[in-house]
Amino acid sequence: MTDLVQSAPRACIIGHPVAHSRSPMVHGFWLKELSLAGDYTREDVRPEDLPGFIASLRERGYVGANVTVPHKEAVLGLADVVSETARAMGAANTLWFEDGLLHADNTDVTGFLANLDERAPGWDRRAGTATVLGAGGAARAVIFGLLARGFSTIHLVNRNEERSLALKAAFGPAVKPCGWDALDAALPATNLLVNTTSLGMSGQPPLVVDLAPLPDTALVHDIVYIPLTTGLLSAARARGLATVDGLGMLLHQAVPGFSHWFGRTPAVTEDLRAILVRDIERAAA
Ligand code: ATR
Repeated sequence: MTDLVQSAPRACIIGHPVAHSRSPMVHGFWLKELSLAGDYTREDVRPEDLPGFIASLRERGYVGANVTVPHKEAVLGLADVVSETARAMGAANTLWFEDGLLHADNTDVTGFLANLDERAPGWDRRAGTATVLGAGGAARAVIFGLLARGFSTIHLVNRNEERSLALKAAFGPAVKPCGWDALDAALPATNLLVNTTSLGMSGQPPLVVDLAPLPDTALVHDIVYIPLTTGLLSAARARGLATVDGLGMLLHQAVPGFSHWFGRTPAVTEDLRAILVRDIERAAA
């Protein structure tokens, strides 16, 4: 046993840039809440330095890490063991050592599903038809989760058709790619509408969708959480629809990493949520 292994466990988030990440706030809250000795820091690593950084992760004293933009794809090729979910996503966000090997997983799917389970219990009881806006990495996790929960039709609305066709090729005929001009026609049969684009995020163009054609029982979810109440969610509430914001996805995707690194499974509580909400509001002000 080396001194490194015997000292309090340390984890980090690896990104470039990484200063904006709220993950240290989440893990710091849990370490304190559970009275655990440990540390979670930010590591700004340039793409060209990533292989060397990962190779020396253990020597740097880390028991594991989160990985964010732009390293989520590259890190797959640097881990010893890649989970099936991470392989399906083509990206990983959580690393940990087990039996001397570096494992990589993608917890975005878990985060997406756990958030809806918590904020809209029974949301998948009828499953059926969902409409997903956007066809990037986040949409991939969302579609994977929706298919796992039994959704039979997923209208995939994206500007760049090539990206939605790639998701159809990956996930099969339940995924129905279409352009924004076909959204109106998709909405009347939609039980769940999910925004995975960056539209509506603070500093980005607004997301303008006429929600009138949605059924009164539809649920509207935005994975954007800055601002917490996006234009899409405001419009959905004004229309009397149930909504779920994206903050819980950030919180729930962090749970598996914490368990691997620090040996306890933390809870996503209203106290934790409130701290993040205050921070988001402060940043917006
Ligand atoms: P992530 O990995 O977080 O999903 P991403 O891969 O950059 O991020 O995807 C962003 C999504 O927002 C994409 O679906 C993108 O649409 P395109 O694939 O057509 O580029 C969508 N998006 C971003 N800006 C947009 C805009 N101005 N109009 C329409 N879609 C937009």
